Amino acid sequence: MARVLLFGVGSIGAVYLHQLQQAGCIVTIVCRSNYHAVQQNGFTLRSERFGNVSYRPDHIVRSVADCPADAVYDYLIVTSKSFPASSHHPALADQLRPVLASRPNTTIVLAQNGIDIEPAIADAYPQNPLLSGVIYLPATQVAPGVIEYPETLNLLELGTYPANAPAAHRASAQRLADLMTQGGGEVKVLDDIQVARWSKLLLNASWNPICALSLCSDGDFLLTSSPFAYDLVWGIILEIVTLARKIGIPGVDEEAGEARFAIAKRRAETNSGREPSMLHDVRQGRLFEVEAIVGNTVRIGRKWAVPMPRLETVYALAKARYEAMAAGDIQ
Ligand SMILES: NC(=O)c1ccc[n+]([C@@H]2O[C@H](COP(=O)([O-])OP(=O)(O)OC[C@H]3O[C@@H](n4cnc5c(N)ncnc54)[C@H](OP(=O)(O)O)[C@@H]3O)[C@@H](O)[C@H]2O)c1
Ligand SMILES: *[C@@H]1O[C@H](CO)[C@@H](O)[C@H](O)[C@H]1NC(C)=O
Ligand SMILES: *[C@@H]1O[C@H](CO)[C@@H](O)[C@H](O)[C@H]1NC(C)=O
Ligand SMILES: *[C@@H]1O[C@H](CO)[C@@H](O)[C@H](O)[C@H]1NC(C)=O
Repeated sequence: MARVLLFGVGSIGAVYLHQLQQAGCIVTIVCRSNYHAVQQNGFTLRSERFGNVSYRPDHIVRSVADCPADAVYDYLIVTSKSFPASSHHPALADQLRPVLASRPNTTIVLAQNGIDIEPAIADAYPQNPLLSGVIYLPATQVAPGVIEYPETLNLLELGTYPANAPAAHRASAQRLADLMTQGGGEVKVLDDIQVARWSKLLLNASWNPICALSLCSDGDFLLTSSPFAYDLVWGIILEIVTLARKIGIPGVDEEAGEARFAIAKRRAETNSGREPSMLHDVRQGRLFEVEAIVGNTVRIGRKWAVPMPRLETVYALAKARYEAMAAGDIQ
């Protein structure tokens, strides 16, 4: 029976808790703002895929430092948002140290959005198997412990970091995939997860900051009365395609970019634009993953000398919004 520690259990973590428990895992969760609500009432999941269900974690703690010293965890799955270290919050690798320092065999799973989020963890915990996951699962925590998940889409793309990790790490990925599938989810174990990360980045790095800054859905942004809106989005997609080609990520080409852009164009035509999560975050005054999704991308661009003037402009603006919100948070 697998023992799992889930770190940062909000929208995604709550759904994964359900799936893991359905598969018979013993799950400990680390919660922050929803700690009291979940400790008292557990989670309520209103979903198309799993129905309307209530459930409790096997154990709940406020911090990894509260995990019993002798507890064994086969997996530590990180489902918090990916934020850089700040004066208020240490880097993720440091936050996890109390539980990982003495557990070199625990497989670490980063179930988070963004690009280039693995090296800091791999460097800090070189012995632990490390898995990287790309999530397609639209869920929202609408009140502490209450999750709405109105669509059936549920896909976790999973792979080892680095891609050429030992066979035992790959086996650990397959075991987790089997458990999550048994629990009612869909999982694909990929040989090179970076291809999946870059493929998702095509959309996330372009649409998310644009929608968050303009307060428009993707469809509405394309319908604004200037031809520059279309050029801005397509220009950013092309910048990412150029960078991916330079680095040698296969399949993230102009055709892939066009296929993904076509989805938003269809939404514009049918007036059915989507609001990406970064726009929801800005609307609700919640910090958004500007560094993991946009900042890391433009930094890789600088490193590889690929000009990304459009994405750099969007990054500077989104970063300013983020810092203004973070300053408000601290007051
Ligand atoms: N939700 C989606 O539809 C979706 C879809 C695809 C991908 N993703 C990705 O999945 C990841 C998770 O997103 P999410 O939507 O589940 O975020 P979320 O709803 O904000 O949940 C993250 C949870 O982690 C908690 N947390 C953060 N730092 C913590 C700490 N140090 N100790 C304890 N708890 C901590 C947060 O607590 P606080 O409330 O105190 O901050 C929050 O409850 C992100 O990378 C996101 O981009 C999400
Ligand atoms: C779940 O609850 C919502 C209201 O909260 C309701 O509209 C929906 O029909 C319920 N679904 C199921 C499968 O019971
Ligand atoms: C990790 O696994 C190895 C090989 O199975 C074992 O020898 C070692 O004792 C384990 N370490 C811990 C801290 O559990
Ligand atoms: C990322 O893209 C997915 C679609 O692939 C979207 O559902 C989600 O809102 C985006 N989220 C972020 C934070 O980029």
